[in-house]
Amino acid sequence: MRLAVVGNPVAHSRSPQIHARFAADAHHSVDYTRLLAPLDGFAATLREFAAGGARGCNVTVPFKGEAFAACARLSERARRAQAVNTIVFEADGWFGDNTDGAGLVRDIELNAGVPLRGKRVLMLGAGGAAAGALDPLLAARPATLVVANRTASKAQALIERFAASAARLDVPLSSAPLDAPGASFDVLINATAASLQAAVPPLPAGTLVPGALALDMMYGAAALPFLCWARAQGAVARDGLGMLVEQAAEAYFVWMGVRPGTFQLLTELRREVDAQAGERGAAA
Ligand code: ATR
Repeated sequence: MRLAVVGNPVAHSRSPQIHARFAADAHHSVDYTRLLAPLDGFAATLREFAAGGARGCNVTVPFKGEAFAACARLSERARRAQAVNTIVFEADGWFGDNTDGAGLVRDIELNAGVPLRGKRVLMLGAGGAAAGALDPLLAARPATLVVANRTASKAQALIERFAASAARLDVPLSSAPLDAPGASFDVLINATAASLQAAVPPLPAGTLVPGALALDMMYGAAALPFLCWARAQGAVARDGLGMLVEQAAEAYFVWMGVRPGTFQLLTELRREVDAQAGERGAAA
């Protein structure tokens, strides 16, 4: 079974390591590689890979929007996110899914041990990463979900896209400016690209309850400023490594129909990443 992660850049991706482990545990024969697509050549790269008999691929930055456009059929969660991170090459066209949000929710609820039902949840950011997470977050039935973004109009546009979902699930969904998101949140999710600039969004004191879970979707050195800030607020800080592993497990399930275990792998990756980031044992 041939699979790959397609991106630009893609050399840093840990997906081959993660999927090789899933395959070994399941006794599947899987060849999972990295595919560097030219910025103007995503679809062509994918077509060539699919024509060679591959089963599917993961899609990473900056191609999740292009992947959404390239798929003939979409899962509901991918359709609403308008982003695809997992493709299955079917005979009758490509099927696009988005496993990022499901991975995030599994990491929060199972790995971090924080059930989202009834919690006050604040999401920072209104780009693709935030959009991918909203459906699964709503499905977890928090007491409220607020989306705060530097550009307020983008947060508003995003919540409008998910308003029907939120109403159906009876979850209050609203947008807010970054510097006035509301108070006393139990869970904070940083889906902004601020960590890439070593910046922490300017949240006022009182945004979080003591002991809140504060999660950055990034991991490694990029996540450190946010994790330090979160701990200074009295929060439990968590990086995006668990989300990475869980979205991969969900993708593996989409391709292979088997859900891999993640605990041991996540423990090992945690050790590697913390050692590389110079903060062994500090995250999570
Ligand atoms: P992605 O697909 O990773 O979500 P994106 O679609 O470019 O990337 O979105 C990036 C998000 O990070 C946006 O919400 C952006 O805010 P704006 O909509 O105001 O641009 C947010 N972001 C980027 N840098 C930021 C910073 N320094 N502080 C706060 N938010 C930031």
